[in-house]
Amino acid sequence: MVSIAVCSGKGGTGKTTVTANLAVAMAQFGRDVLVVDADIEMANLCFHLGVDGSTPTLHDVLAGRAELAEAVREAHGVKVLPGAISLKALKHADPERLEEVLSALEKHEIVLIDAPAGLGRALLAALSVVDAALLVVNPEVSSLGDALKTKVVAGKLKVKTLGAVLNRWHGTPEEIPVRDVETVLEMPVLATIPEDKKVREASSYGTPLVLHSPQSPAAQALKELAANLLGEEYRPVRKDSFVSRLKKLFIK
Ligand SMILES: Nc1ncnc2c1ncn2[C@@H]1O[C@H](COP(=O)(O)OP(=O)(O)O)[C@@H](O)[C@H]1O
Ligand SMILES: [Mg+2]
Repeated sequence: MVSIAVCSGKGGTGKTTVTANLAVAMAQFGRDVLVVDADIEMANLCFHLGVDGSTPTLHDVLAGRAELAEAVREAHGVKVLPGAISLKALKHADPERLEEVLSALEKHEIVLIDAPAGLGRALLAALSVVDAALLVVNPEVSSLGDALKTKVVAGKLKVKTLGAVLNRWHGTPEEIPVRDVETVLEMPVLATIPEDKKVREASSYGTPLVLHSPQSPAAQALKELAANLLGEEYRPVRKDSFVSRLKKLFIK
């Protein structure tokens, strides 16, 4: 098993978007993937994957009201352990149990953990059960600063940071260039995911972007990241030209 926490420090950088799509893209490469919503206070992974977020969830497991296996469901070829979205569920969930619960996830080939923002107990619990971390950053100073702190905390817990995922990239001159992001964070940028209106469109449909708009620039960047992490060959999806569609029609 390989377990990776998708972290950022700062909230709203795109952790959940990256986690959900990476999980589906990895499953498309034939891997057995479990994705966990470990953002205990602001759980919302279920919306990104279009799964039922009702009881039992990770929160019920943390409250001692459900077994882990009961809370795992499947969507788009991925096993999902969602968190509950209600405030009430939060009241009964015991974050102290997160480490113990997540340690029991060993049987999956790949476990991706959607980690919470900040450097609180829930992040420490998520980091304490993973082999590695990915840092999702936006091309802005505040995001890099928070990512740097997260990297230091991960290092203290002996978690290797694989690299950064630069998300919501516009490629405008006022943005921090990729090279500078790498210099500041002292790690490679493994993927640059552009700002793409299809991301929001996909989440409003409750369908992961890589399935909703596989040809969109952001989906292609996410699939390439999945391929690189798995050591698989990435083949970009190209729109068929008129001529190739015509050829397919005649030569079936
Ligand atoms: N590459 C992108 N292009 C456009 N919108 C994005 C992109 N990545 C994320 N978003 C949007 O940014 C918001 C925050 O993303 P989310 O994945 O929920 O962040 P986090 O989990 O870090 O809080 C969401 O509305 C999401 O649709
Ligand atoms: Mg999130």
